[in-house]
Amino acid sequence: MGKSQEHDLALIIMFKLIINIKKLLQIRDEKTSFISANEMNNLPHVNNAFLLIEDGKISDFGKMSEIPKTNNIEIIDAKNKIVLPAWCDSHTHSVFAGNRSEEYIQRLKGISYEEIAANGGGILKSSNQINSISEDQLFEESKKRIETLIDYGTGSLEIKTGYGLNYEAELKMLQVIRRLKDVLPILIKATFLGAHAIPKNYAKEDYFKLVVDKMLPDFAKMKLIDFVDIFCEKNYFSTKHTRLICDKAAKLNIPSKIHVNQFNSIGGVKVGVECGSLSVDHLEVMNQSDIDALKDSNTMPVLLPGCSFFLGINYAPAKKLLENGIPFAIASDFNPGSSPTGNMNFIVSLACNKLGISAEQAINAATLNGAYAMGVDKKSGSICKGKFANLLITEDINSIDDIPYYYADNLIYKVLINGKEVN
Ligand code: NIG
Ligand code: FE
Repeated sequence: MGKSQEHDLALIIMFKLIINIKKLLQIRDEKTSFISANEMNNLPHVNNAFLLIEDGKISDFGKMSEIPKTNNIEIIDAKNKIVLPAWCDSHTHSVFAGNRSEEYIQRLKGISYEEIAANGGGILKSSNQINSISEDQLFEESKKRIETLIDYGTGSLEIKTGYGLNYEAELKMLQVIRRLKDVLPILIKATFLGAHAIPKNYAKEDYFKLVVDKMLPDFAKMKLIDFVDIFCEKNYFSTKHTRLICDKAAKLNIPSKIHVNQFNSIGGVKVGVECGSLSVDHLEVMNQSDIDALKDSNTMPVLLPGCSFFLGINYAPAKKLLENGIPFAIASDFNPGSSPTGNMNFIVSLACNKLGISAEQAINAATLNGAYAMGVDKKSGSICKGKFANLLITEDINSIDDIPYYYADNLIYKVLINGKEVN
């Protein structure tokens, strides 16, 4: 091969050009790390656009009439379809073993989620399942599951531990997440949720001490943790535990993201904000003092409508948050007990239908605000030069309102991760 051919080949590998984009959505400058409540109803866009990808990152975009002169570039024809950033799912438990479908059947017969948990099911059931399979099995099962999520358009994914509930099994989960980071093309963040429930044969304080004094510092030292989490809830962990673990993690430079206000408001939102938590997640039960605590804070609320849908509990008061000037993200909460789907297209639909928000608000919540809630806002969540080219090309739709409207469909024509087609 001659020198110039080699050069051409290098160009082909490095550059890709998407042409004929009907609408390129969610264009933000690099300083915008999240979308404020007032702005959430807007999705800045360019009509009839192109987007240039260099080395897996967005290097340019604009109107088709301003397309740069290029030779030997791979062209992706968007065929007059809409392009937007891939979903940023900032709250999942997507590493788990087996499922809990028999608990779902019990719930259909009238036994509550809380009763099932109190009888040794729920999180403890998932813990038994995790403890009884090998790291390799857990890795293969989880990888397959997450590959499906990528096909559905997820480009950034947070994954929690919390089904190990002992040193070895929590470590097993973290090692699986580390391996998933290595082999999958998407951005993955690992959250240590050792304080998810109290394992059998343990006093709460003894287990909490093990989590905070042994697991957290050890796993941090092994560089396996991006964030720490805790289930701040009646019968689980208190606001005192929450403050303690968030403070301890902050000293290790590990931001916190907390499960709070799912069933009861016990003051955890305020603690999260005071500790500078990156996000407070769930918020199905909110009183005015919880709302007040969030005003003007840098802590992102993360709403999980899939959990409300599946458990039949309250939906988080999204409109009330917006009225109070508080933005939010939405996420799948993918887990075997309270939300067995990680399909963000459905979560966006559900958010519109049940939280009463617009498609624009839901897309802002599922892209840049999600990216912020998992610390990847500098790398994903918007169309911005330098960010990873993690993109969705939609099916032939009239407007983005079709995404929530066709609630059982995935209106995705192509998913690009780092500029590469995945499906
Ligand atoms: O986010 N609320 C705590 N944790 C998970 C569910 C855990 C489970 O049932 O496995 C949640 O809903
Ligand atoms: Fe969760």
